[in-house]
Amino acid sequence: MILITGGAGFIGGNFVLDWLKVPGNEGIINLDKLTYAGNLATLGSLRDDPRHIFVHGDIGDKELVSNLLKQYQPRAIINFAAESHVDRSIHGPGEFIQTNIVGTFNLLECAREYWDGLKGSEKSQFRFHHVSTDEVYGSLSATDPAFSETNPYEPNSPYSASKAASDHLVRAWFHTYGLPVVTTNCSNNYGPYHFPEKLIPLVILNAINGKPLPIYGDGQQIRDWLYVGDHCTAIREVLAKGVLGETYNIGGWNEKANLEVVKTICKILDELKPRNDGKSYAEQITFVKDRPGHDRRYAIDASKIERELGWRPAETFDSGIRKTVQWYLDNPKWIEGVVSGSYRDWLQKQYN
Ligand code: NAD
Ligand code: DAU
Repeated sequence: MILITGGAGFIGGNFVLDWLKVPGNEGIINLDKLTYAGNLATLGSLRDDPRHIFVHGDIGDKELVSNLLKQYQPRAIINFAAESHVDRSIHGPGEFIQTNIVGTFNLLECAREYWDGLKGSEKSQFRFHHVSTDEVYGSLSATDPAFSETNPYEPNSPYSASKAASDHLVRAWFHTYGLPVVTTNCSNNYGPYHFPEKLIPLVILNAINGKPLPIYGDGQQIRDWLYVGDHCTAIREVLAKGVLGETYNIGGWNEKANLEVVKTICKILDELKPRNDGKSYAEQITFVKDRPGHDRRYAIDASKIERELGWRPAETFDSGIRKTVQWYLDNPKWIEGVVSGSYRDWLQKQYN
């Protein structure tokens, strides 16, 4: 077995679905707290699959995590669980500290105790894979080179600071206790099952519902977009071949300004689901107040993972974004399930 945390969220959910499609892969214990961002509908196709064991719980629960490790004896832990939304971390950082820092600390301690008790090849093959973000490196100017693994950490939001802290803990557990860890720092993901608080799914849903498409500030902030399926293949490669104690940057080689991303989505929607009045969805674009401390540019230099592990993204932004828009048009039931009262409260709070 492998133990996945946060496997009912966007990336964790995609990872679980993809992992179980690969013939010969082990089963998964999926530990998820089911916060507003966790959604069992994402895993609906696995309801009767004995290879998927879902456990509702918190990575910060020492007794629960220790018992799961004892009972299932996983050969790896992949930690996706986190509070992941920058804007929410600005409104309320407490949960970010609790899950991203204290939760990761608890997971590391439970893993250490479990790993200490293993013997022979079970011990030498065990892995703790920590999933992190490029936001820990801070913000780039237009002319800076892309982030490499040796960039200093300069997190700017409560979210990125909490992820940076968790990365430091993981590093320390390797150097001090010898826990066999690998860390991956990834750029912005997009694709199916993405919670519609984040830019791409928010814009798709607002567009088809006739609502404004909110662009923070001047819309010229740059992100490096990676299709989620490519992130999942990269994690599988690092888990299989990554060098212990190393970090690997994962990115899409796809730097785009936010306004360009939104205009591209509008263009695809104009083609796939034209507005009744014949006008473009781009008419709905609205410039709104900027995010406090908004990082200007992220870009990932993903040459280390390509050189050392042979991974490169398969999807281009054009192919990935078209698939993504089509997925949201084809899956109104999943959308209905996530757009709850608390989601509507969030939109009211953030966009007034
Ligand atoms: P998400 O918010 O969609 O999902 C997070 C999942 O973790 C949810 O299912 C939630 O219920 C669960 N969770 C939260 N707190 C928990 C706790 N205390 N115990 C157990 N489960 C808990 O996040 P995501 O976008 O899928 O991101 C997954 C990981 O990847 C995060 O660590 C994030 O920092 C990192 N990451 C995300 C991106 C991105 O673009 N989305 C990019 C780079 C790195
Ligand atoms: O870089 C990796 C990170 O990418 C992950 O670690 C985070 O978990 C993930 O949420 C994402 O963070 P961002 O802040 O970059 O993603 P978000 O989708 O919230 O915003 C993308 C860009 O779009 C950012 O510059 C802010 C802008 N934006 C976002 C929203 C929600 C808008 O202009 N309008 C919006 O309404």
